[in-house]
Amino acid sequence: MTDTVQQILIIGLGLIGGSLAKALRARNYCPVVAGYDRNPDELQAGVQLGVIDRAADDLNVAVATADIVVLAVPVKAMEAVLAQISPHLKPGALLTDVGSTKSNIVAAAEPILGERLACFIPGHPIAGSEKSGVAAADDALFQSHKVIVTPLAQNKDADVQTISRMWQATGAEVLRMDVKRHDEVLAATSHLPHYLAFSLVDTLAREEDSTEIFRYAAGGFRDFTRIAASDPVMWRDIGLANRAAILKQIDRFSEGVSQLRQAIESGDGEAMTGIFTRAQAARQHFSRILSSTAYATTMTTNDVTFHVQPGGGVTGTIRVPGDKSISHRSIMLGALADGITEVSGFLEGEDSLATLQAFRDMGVVIEGPYEGEVKIYGVGLDGLKAPAGPLYVGNSGTSMRLLAGLLAAQSFDSELTGDASLTKRPMERVAAPLRQMGAVIETAENGRPPMKISGGQPLKGIHYDMPMASAQVKSCLMLAGLYAEGQTSVTEPAPTRDHSERMLRGFGYPVSQQGNLVTVAPGHRLTGGKIDVPSDISSATFFMVAAAICPGSDVTLQHVGINPTRIGIINILKLMGADLELLNEREVGGEPVADIRVRYAQLKGIQVPEDQVPLAIDEFPALFVAAACAEGQTVVTGAEELRVKESDRIQAMVDGLKTLGVDIEGTPDGAIINGSDSFGGGVIESHDDHRIAMSFTVAALRAREPITINECANVATSFPVFVELAQQVGIRVTKEEV
Ligand code: S3P
Repeated sequence: MTDTVQQILIIGLGLIGGSLAKALRARNYCPVVAGYDRNPDELQAGVQLGVIDRAADDLNVAVATADIVVLAVPVKAMEAVLAQISPHLKPGALLTDVGSTKSNIVAAAEPILGERLACFIPGHPIAGSEKSGVAAADDALFQSHKVIVTPLAQNKDADVQTISRMWQATGAEVLRMDVKRHDEVLAATSHLPHYLAFSLVDTLAREEDSTEIFRYAAGGFRDFTRIAASDPVMWRDIGLANRAAILKQIDRFSEGVSQLRQAIESGDGEAMTGIFTRAQAARQHFSRILSSTAYATTMTTNDVTFHVQPGGGVTGTIRVPGDKSISHRSIMLGALADGITEVSGFLEGEDSLATLQAFRDMGVVIEGPYEGEVKIYGVGLDGLKAPAGPLYVGNSGTSMRLLAGLLAAQSFDSELTGDASLTKRPMERVAAPLRQMGAVIETAENGRPPMKISGGQPLKGIHYDMPMASAQVKSCLMLAGLYAEGQTSVTEPAPTRDHSERMLRGFGYPVSQQGNLVTVAPGHRLTGGKIDVPSDISSATFFMVAAAICPGSDVTLQHVGINPTRIGIINILKLMGADLELLNEREVGGEPVADIRVRYAQLKGIQVPEDQVPLAIDEFPALFVAAACAEGQTVVTGAEELRVKESDRIQAMVDGLKTLGVDIEGTPDGAIINGSDSFGGGVIESHDDHRIAMSFTVAALRAREPITINECANVATSFPVFVELAQQVGIRVTKEEV
């Protein structure tokens, strides 16, 4: 049928039926919302309270004129009501229900409805409250709640859509799921917690000193047992109706409780920490999924827009968050080490958190992060466990590529997945050499993620002549090399960041380096220790460029990592005439660190030396902004890798700077940028790329009009406190979360 619904009949005016009726009336869904309830007082109240337009005194008569009939009676009563109304249904009418279990209702409906089962589209609104009865009807009950529609094979898609639209009219979000899956999911997410709450309260209430227990049981007990005040009859019926799925969940839960019991009995603090940290992470993760802000939201992150007013200043002393590359590696090597690794200065950005979560998923106990502190209980090189499902690494190319090397050598199968941006990025660059080592890896079309990695493959060391300068590829092969037979060596066409090499050595694992050749061999172990992560020079870059382009600026960036393989930005800015000083140079845990002071000085355009490109690979978006403010022309060549980063960074910067009126031309491997005193404003597309978003924020310092930057949520992947720090130094940026 189409949506020419003249009359809808709701059978059962309890909280759900009454709220549905009221919501449909409030939104003028159809001319007549009729109601039926076997309790005449409730039915009368329904009319008086304006919940329904019309009370049906005779159910059979009412059914005969309704276009949609909604069964909102208790689960156990469904069968009898169905049997009664079935012969009277109007031809072409649709039937749906609101029951919280579905298999049993469908099984009961089959023999009763026969051929007309095709008109029955089961549904389940995930909404409710402890209140009951028509007086509690609330027309906003379904607003922004989920309704699961569980279509049957016999249903016509148009009819399923009609029922979906009915629910959408109440403000609900409609999801489709098959009947069996619905019952399994609900057993875990709703039925089990209710039974645990009932059982806990019942158990404690039967203890002799129960009054005492209840008197002192405050927050935790209250929170955990709120739902034990729910309707016992309804929960009995659900227990009878969804028996198999609930039993399965109770068994899984009992297994979990006995593991916890065992840990407590044997005083096993590490096992307890494992259970609690995994649960805590999952719980936070889950709240973030619900608020759509986590990396795990498969790219349905909240839309974030930056609004930046032109001008402003850049002064002060700040410390930007920890280095992303080092943070990733601290988790990876800490997990593979023997003993405990304590990390400080860890970057709590979504990328490094994705790595952390992946190792938790592989059974590694990790405490934190708490204010940059992370404690990893290493499992040794052979201690990782098979994850329960695909490892989702969000936006993080480093996680995916480095993990691919490690996973290729494990005994278990695994799959690596990522968000929409990562799913477009090339993985063949790691898959191909890993296959040469004996790995079995499947990628999607054109070598894109997901990567499916078969476990239990013996790896052989190879020599790999890397065609592009990539620290991710090099590190991936080194990690695989820890497990391969014989030596694994990689030559790089130009030096790339060497954090893996430094950290492996820091963990006591030998790595040999001769010129551009790096070699590892198996047979050694890693020993856990302490890691102090310096601030990320790639994040500091935005403020270095900000100070370099904004007259009157004077900013000091503390504790920044100045590893020689990362200081391309310093070298290039100095060549452009920046007033940049390194202060207080020191070494922290195998990595050189300094405070960087930058004051304004007029920059001049240069030909960027190609040997600096890999050393500044993540800094080009910001450098393009510096070049746009320089006197004369800046030419970037040899930077084609920029086209396969989180976005095509050459294109994104060329398009964005052109919007501002900058004279810039893109080339296959770089750009030609003619600088000017100032430029205009406009709306910039960041293409979900964190570094594009932050670069244009900085550009506003030299703009004459405001700049709006779209799709900035991914700034949280590498620099979650960027906006706050930018405001602190004087950049006039505000964040709008949609
Ligand atoms: C990284 C290496 C670089 C860099 C990325 C981090 C690393 O990527 O762009 O942000 O941590 O190894 P490539 O190896 O692809 O150049």
